[in-house]
Order: sequence, then C-alpha cells, then structure tokens
Amino acid sequence: MDDKMMEDIPEVYEKLKEATDRLQFNMASDLQTGSLLKTLVASKPSGRILELGTGTGLATSWIINGMDERARLVTVENNELLLDIARGALQDKRIEFVLADGYEWIQNYSGEKFDLVFADAMPGKYELFEETIKMVKEGGFYIIDDMLPQPNWPEGHSKKVEGLIIELEGRNDIMLTKLNWSTGIIIVTKIKLETNE
Ligand SMILES: C[S@@+](CC[C@H](N)C(=O)[O-])C[C@H]1O[C@@H](n2cnc3c(N)ncnc32)[C@H](O)[C@@H]1O
Repeated sequence: MDDKMMEDIPEVYEKLKEATDRLQFNMASDLQTGSLLKTLVASKPSGRILELGTGTGLATSWIINGMDERARLVTVENNELLLDIARGALQDKRIEFVLADGYEWIQNYSGEKFDLVFADAMPGKYELFEETIKMVKEGGFYIIDDMLPQPNWPEGHSKKVEGLIIELEGRNDIMLTKLNWSTGIIIVTKIKLETNE
C-alpha cells in the first residue's frame, strides 16, 4: 500500500497549492491530513463541521468533498489575504468563511455544537482548548495535526505539544488515537460521561 497515492485529490487543490507556494505559506496541511479529514467528515451526514485556521483552504477543499449536500462548514481565519484565496477558489454555499480572531470567535460562540472540529490554529488547540472541546457533540471528532516535530516550530513549541498530549490523555470525556503518520495526528472522539445515577 502506498498511502501517498490518492485518486481523490480535490480538483481545486492544485490551484490552492500554487497560491500557497507563491505566498511561501509554510503552515499548510498536507495531503494525508486532508484525506483523513474527508473520510471522517463523510461519516457525519448533515454534519456541522468547524475548521479553526483556514489558511489558504487546502484542508477545506478536502473537507467539503467529504460533506453531503446538507452538511455545513464554518471555517475561521484571521488573515484576510489567506482567507481571500480560500474564499475565491472554494465557492460553495455550504461554507461559511469567517474573518475573525479565533480567540474572540471561540469565546463568543453560543451556537449549536459541531460533529467534527479540525483545530488547526493556536486558539482551539493550545489555547482555549476547554472552550473548544465543549463545542464538540458526543460522538463527534476533534482532530489535530502537526503533533510530530515540524521545521516551522518556534522555540519552545514542543513543550506545548507535550502539554496538550498530557491534557488529552488525562481526560475522561474523550477517547483518542495518536498517529505517527502525516505530520502527527490525534483523532479524538468525545464520549458521553457516565453518571452514577
Ligand atoms: C496551520 S495553519 C492552517 C492551515 C490550513 N488548515 C490548511 O489546510 O492549510 C494555521 C492558520 O491559523 C491562522 N491563525 C493564527 N492565529 C489565528 C487566530 N488568532 N485566529 C484565527 N486564525 C489564526 C493562521 O493565519 C494560519 O492560516
């Protein structure tokens, strides 16, 4: 099996990748992460999906290909230049592009919970994690990538990564699987807390 051979790369992907490379944007999600997201999203008919950190829309292009007609995606990004690339290339009525600071957006969010959250920015992952995991429905997924050392990690970032893994492994309201694959992925499923009644 060659896990990098993919027949289902989104049509718009190449265009987005060219724009991403032109900008020398070095935080883009890779093909394997995209492929996994598509497959997981497809398990959520009529799903409500959240992406924190749209970037130029590479993962977004995979996510929408996993969504059915009734599914909806909210994707949040604070960099207008990046978001405009995604918005321009991915014109789809199922997507709500939000230009906002993720910290404010998470703290102000009071809507319905999500079936899958791809947390790909500092807010929602290393910060405001508690608020973000609360947004995931029982049986829903919380997905993070870049958990293996990456060339673009700033000084001290590995400590944050270790801290997040410890936090995740200590919780009783989730189940998780760590994958030393792609950039290092953790798949988290939110579970129903048992009560003693
Ligand atoms: C790892 S990249 C996202 C990559 C993207 N998901 C993809 O598929 O290529 C993280 C993104 O989060 C954005 N970001 C960083 N801080 C943010 C904040 N406070 N609010 C919203 N977005 C933020 C960055 O501009 C960047 O585009």
